[in-house]
Amino acid sequence: METVVSGIRSTGNLHLGNYFGAVKNFLKMQHENRCFFFIADYHSLTTHPTPEDLHGNVRQILSEYLACGIDPDVATVFIQSDVPEVTELYLLLNMNAYLGELERTTSFKEKARKQPNNVNAGLLTYPVLMAADIIIHKATKVPVGKDQEQNLEMTRRFARRFNNMYKVDLFPEPTAYNFGEELIKIPGLDGSGKMGKSEGNAIYLTDDPAVIRKKVMRAVTDSGPTRENQEMSEPVRNLFTIMKVISSEETYNHFLEEYNKARIRYGDMKKQLAEDIIRFTTPIRERVEEIRNDNEYLRKVVRQGAEKARESASKTLREAREIIGFKPF
Ligand code: TRP
Repeated sequence: METVVSGIRSTGNLHLGNYFGAVKNFLKMQHENRCFFFIADYHSLTTHPTPEDLHGNVRQILSEYLACGIDPDVATVFIQSDVPEVTELYLLLNMNAYLGELERTTSFKEKARKQPNNVNAGLLTYPVLMAADIIIHKATKVPVGKDQEQNLEMTRRFARRFNNMYKVDLFPEPTAYNFGEELIKIPGLDGSGKMGKSEGNAIYLTDDPAVIRKKVMRAVTDSGPTRENQEMSEPVRNLFTIMKVISSEETYNHFLEEYNKARIRYGDMKKQLAEDIIRFTTPIRERVEEIRNDNEYLRKVVRQGAEKARESASKTLREAREIIGFKPF
């Protein structure tokens, strides 16, 4: 049994890529491990400091995760800013985080380039806060994508540095949660690359049917195979990849055969794919709507989550403070 921590950015709705790349694995993982899933609302301030949006974004993303089946009675589901202990550990870790190493991280350099007028200290110390999120629960595993590997490396470094500095064994060094075979990358509908918010090619779980149909029908293909068993072009292969996770095996095999016999009509395939996506997302979309309007339920979920998270966090923080040398009078 591992202790797993995963922070979820509070900006951007869930799309099919998020679902099949991460959320679906969380659903299984939560039953097998001690899991902490939290909405990283402090982190969102480094790039999206808009008071009018903050609460709504958190409510939306929380509702989406719950609608997908993250179970707050099984996992600890909480809001980062409800756990003040993490900010204290962040402060303590900052004392041993060096300007040079923080400046060198790829995500910092990238964001500094993107928002040159707002290169704030929060952006610089983003990996320190992330490390605090993780090690405050003594996590051993963190389910992260490629883009977060460097941040996880920094987490290990800060944990190790603390342990070495004080000659203790307080923090385990967490590694990436390995989904193994189940790691599926969902491509976008624009012919190449993965599905992503910033790529502008995503189908969201909360898109309504008309939007889904429009997006799928517009997906990039090619002029069609001219001979049997012709190798697929990337855009077409991408459509098949999405169909494989969404549609039934019969449907997938049917269109694959059509392709291999060089008689496929992409229009038919897209129509079918759109309907299958709609069938998959509709119950989730409806649950999201229900949950986000059920304030009483949401309040109960975050309260219970905060309580469980704080219990775990305050225990570690107490140990860290003592090790550093803080003593009561
Ligand atoms: N940096 C992560 C992201 O952008 C979000 C995050 C914050 C996180 N704290 C975390 C992820 C702790 C895992 C563990 O997606």
